[in-house]
Amino acid sequence: MDPFTLIAVATAAGFVFNKMSGSSVREERREFTYSRDLVARLKPDNRSEFDLAAIDVLKEYRLVKKLVDNQFPLVFITGGAGTGKSTFVRWAMKEFAGSVLLGAPTANAAITAGGKTLHSLFQLPTGWIVKSHIKKAPQKREFREAKLLIIDEVSMVTANLLDGISAFLRVNRGVNAPFGGLPVIMVGDMFQLPPVVTKDIVPLYKKIYGSPKFYNARCLQQATYYGVELTRTYRQSDQEFVDILTRLREGVDLKNSVAHLNSRCTITDRVGPGTVWLSPRNREVDFRNSEEMTRLSGTARSYRGLLSGQFSGDRLPAPTDLTVKVGAQIMFTRNDVNKRWINGSIGVVRRLLNDKIFIELAETGKIVDVGRVKWTDYHYFYNKKSNRIDRTRTGSYQQFPLVPAWASTIHKSQGKTIENVHLDLGAGSFETGQTYVALSRCRSLSGLTLSRPLTVADIIVDYESKQFYDGLRQIIKKLPPKKMMQTLAG
Ligand SMILES: Nc1ncnc2c1ncn2[C@@H]1O[C@H](COP(=O)(O)OP(=O)(O)OP(=O)(O)O)[C@@H](O)[C@H]1O
Ligand SMILES: [Mg+2]
Repeated sequence: MDPFTLIAVATAAGFVFNKMSGSSVREERREFTYSRDLVARLKPDNRSEFDLAAIDVLKEYRLVKKLVDNQFPLVFITGGAGTGKSTFVRWAMKEFAGSVLLGAPTANAAITAGGKTLHSLFQLPTGWIVKSHIKKAPQKREFREAKLLIIDEVSMVTANLLDGISAFLRVNRGVNAPFGGLPVIMVGDMFQLPPVVTKDIVPLYKKIYGSPKFYNARCLQQATYYGVELTRTYRQSDQEFVDILTRLREGVDLKNSVAHLNSRCTITDRVGPGTVWLSPRNREVDFRNSEEMTRLSGTARSYRGLLSGQFSGDRLPAPTDLTVKVGAQIMFTRNDVNKRWINGSIGVVRRLLNDKIFIELAETGKIVDVGRVKWTDYHYFYNKKSNRIDRTRTGSYQQFPLVPAWASTIHKSQGKTIENVHLDLGAGSFETGQTYVALSRCRSLSGLTLSRPLTVADIIVDYESKQFYDGLRQIIKKLPPKKMMQTLAG
């Protein structure tokens, strides 16, 4: 079927991004213009051992594949936690073997999806992206020959990052269209965690995009897409738990839903072995990790980080006082230049020297030596005079790129399935979808313990997204997957 007919059908049904957004961000403007260089390793490196033969190939999966086969430019796949969004990604990676760019916004999400961070895939800096950051990649052929871009955990992708990606593909595919004309599948749940945006950048988002949400990106202005919502929950099989989670996700009947959950969970301080401790804040996670460290026998060694100037954000990329012991579980906080590990890889400390730490990588069992690395931070600001975004260097930091990793923040758990979860909200949730993400990692009520009963205030629902979903559901009703499939067949 002619892709233009399909686009016309989807547009007529109302599948157009930014329909509801404010007029100030509506102008037809290209993302940015560009400059030179750099490399990206493109072969999707899907290490998942997930058995694809055992999955249900949903009719939505087949429809999305057909749409991409027919050159349909943009598809949004959504659904609650555990409804098979990332499973679709794995299935699609096999179906479109060898021609897919797969990325996710954070290191943890990228590892979970079996892809790369969007920043490394498209050689973009962290922080605010401006036109001079868009590089010309030497292996343009690989970008030109790619058939599809898949982005998992799109709820954590900012509008600015999406514009950076679109601009990169525009320049490296040599096609003057959003994403350089590459079809894109965006996968995620807007009721889970939103993008992480540092305080100093919030005003920039307000001014330029209205809000950080991906659907405010300029490259999506008036873009036609097709959307599917997956509704069967697979991660949890217990219908009672599924019902509670579904209600918490959208804030339905919160008082009773929270009370129901509390009545079915063990409230305890005792956390058994093999349980992952989830908390909202880094300091709560740090506290738990230091307790586990204390439990290890052996001598602790401390490594001091060297800070010059200032680092923005709520923390440094590795502790200023990194205290570790042999046997400690750690996570890497930066990619290795020699590609032996990536940001987010897990390992166990095997030997501690002055300038080197030896780590056994969990994934391969290989022992690697790690040295100190240097990070640089910048401050981004809107320069009224030149009417552009400028940056100044604010500081640098040197330390081993390691943190202890028995406990995790809820942000880092997004996308994962965890058999046993202990949820300690500490000083309380501070972000929309945060408690829902933590609870929905667990497969069963019996694998879930709470440090205290939850309250209604712990469940923060994103009402901007609720509006978005209300609209989405209405247009899906007009053009449901079955009807879209018929259109394709006709
Ligand atoms: N189509 C499917 N057939 C069989 N099992 C599935 C299917 N989809 C998901 N599952 C099961 O549910 C688990 C969670 O699925 P998946 O990670 O795809 O969910 P998700 O929608 O990406 O969740 P999240 O929003 O938390 O990222 C999988 O590990 C698998 O056990
Ligand atoms: Mg997922």
